[in-house]
Amino acid sequence: MNKKTISTRLMRADDFEAVVRIDEKVLGVSRPKYYEMKFEKLFKSKEFVPTSLVAEKEDKTVVGFVMGELFMGEYGIFQEEATLDTIGVDPDYQKQGIGGKLMHEFVDHLKDLGVQKIHTLVSLNDSRLINFFNANQFAPSKIINLERSL
Ligand SMILES: CC(C)(COP(=O)(O)OP(=O)(O)OC[C@H]1O[C@@H](n2cnc3c(N)ncnc32)[C@H](O)[C@@H]1OP(=O)(O)O)[C@@H](O)C(=O)NCCC(=O)NCCS
Repeated sequence: MNKKTISTRLMRADDFEAVVRIDEKVLGVSRPKYYEMKFEKLFKSKEFVPTSLVAEKEDKTVVGFVMGELFMGEYGIFQEEATLDTIGVDPDYQKQGIGGKLMHEFVDHLKDLGVQKIHTLVSLNDSRLINFFNANQFAPSKIINLERSL
């Protein structure tokens, strides 16, 4: 697979099944409810600027996606910070630069919208994903996530 034959575009509501399929292949569990909630929020409410992207082959098969949130704010003014919630590339197409391409386009798109910072959460145990984010210029933030088991 040549990276050049992969293109990216804004995610649409009808990408739901492809996103759930790829996420299931990546994680080994299906999370349709999680994505129903996310798609509902991103595509039905008018409060978020479209930022999520998919990567597709020439035959239009979706092989990867990145989902993020940029809250519109009052009076349609964009916020300066956005989040990257989920990124996934179909395991059959990983290690070919598709994740990097999605990240690059996602960051460029947010930069064009005036966003200054992107936040994401990664498990400390997921060294592969941490390496991927490091390679894409993400660094640990000065805020730590605290939790308490009940
Ligand atoms: C992280 C992830 C998105 C990366 O996607 P990807 O398409 O494999 O990313 P890239 O190909 O751009 O880069 C990955 C590696 O492949 C290498 N690579 C890129 N193009 C390559 C090529 N043509 N040949 C060989 N290696 C290549 C990159 O250098 C990088 O190497 P590294 O891991 O040593 O840094 C993907 O592995 C994934 O979906 N992981 C699961 C994510 C997950 O858990 N998501 C749910 C919670 S957020």
